Amino acid sequence: MKNSLAIKATTILSLTTILVGCATITAPFRDPDPRWADYKSWTQVTADEVGTGNPTGFLGGVHMGDEGFREVYANDIALETLMGEAPYNFPEGSVIIKEQYANEADWEAGRKAAHTVSIKVSASETSQKSDWMWADSLKGIAGESEFCAGCHSISELRGQGDYVFTNGDFLRSQAAAK
Ligand code: HEC
Repeated sequence: MKNSLAIKATTILSLTTILVGCATITAPFRDPDPRWADYKSWTQVTADEVGTGNPTGFLGGVHMGDEGFREVYANDIALETLMGEAPYNFPEGSVIIKEQYANEADWEAGRKAAHTVSIKVSASETSQKSDWMWADSLKGIAGESEFCAGCHSISELRGQGDYVFTNGDFLRSQAAAK
C-alpha cells in the first residue's frame, strides 16, 4: 500500500514537470507578459475618439491599414508624458499598447483584436532607438525590431515624439479636426 502510493506520487510529480516544461516552450499556452497583462485597466487615451484611417500618413498598410479601428492604452508610467507636449521623452517602464481591429464591425463587437506593444526599457536624456522594445502580439516576446523602430522613428522627425505617434499633440489635433 505504502509503496503504490509512493509510486503514484512520483508519477504525478514527473507528469507535472513535463506539463510545466511544455507550457514554457509552447507559445499558445504562454501568458501575456506581466508588464502589460492588465492593460485593460489602464487609461484608454483614444477613449474620446477611436483611431482609424491614416491620420499621420505613415501607416503604410500596417496596424490593419486605413480600414482598421485602433484603440491605444497607456500605463501610469507613460501617461503624463503621453498627454503632455513635445519634446516627448518617456520614463523607463512606459508601456503603450494598441488594440487593432480589421474594421468598424469587429471594433464595435469587440471581436478579434490584434495587439502591438511599445515598451521603454531604459531612458536617456534624448530619445534613443535602443531604449525601446517591441512586441507584435499580446503573448509576444518583447525585443528589438528594426521594422517597428524604423517606422516609429518618423514620430521623432515629426515632432520629437520619442518613437510614439499617439501623443498629446496628435490627440489634440485629432480632436480639433472633428
Ligand atoms: C509603416 C509604419 C509603422 C510600422 C512598421 C509600425 N508602426 Fe506602430 N504605428 C504607426 C503609426 C502611423 C501609428 C499611429 C497612428 C495610427 O494609428 O494611425 C502607430 C501606432 C502604434 C502604437 C500606439 C502608440 C503610438 O506610437 O502611436 C503602438 C503600441 C505601435 N504602433 C506598435 C508597433 C509595433 C510593436 C510595431 C512592430 C511590430 C509597429 N508599431 C510597426 C506606424 C507603424
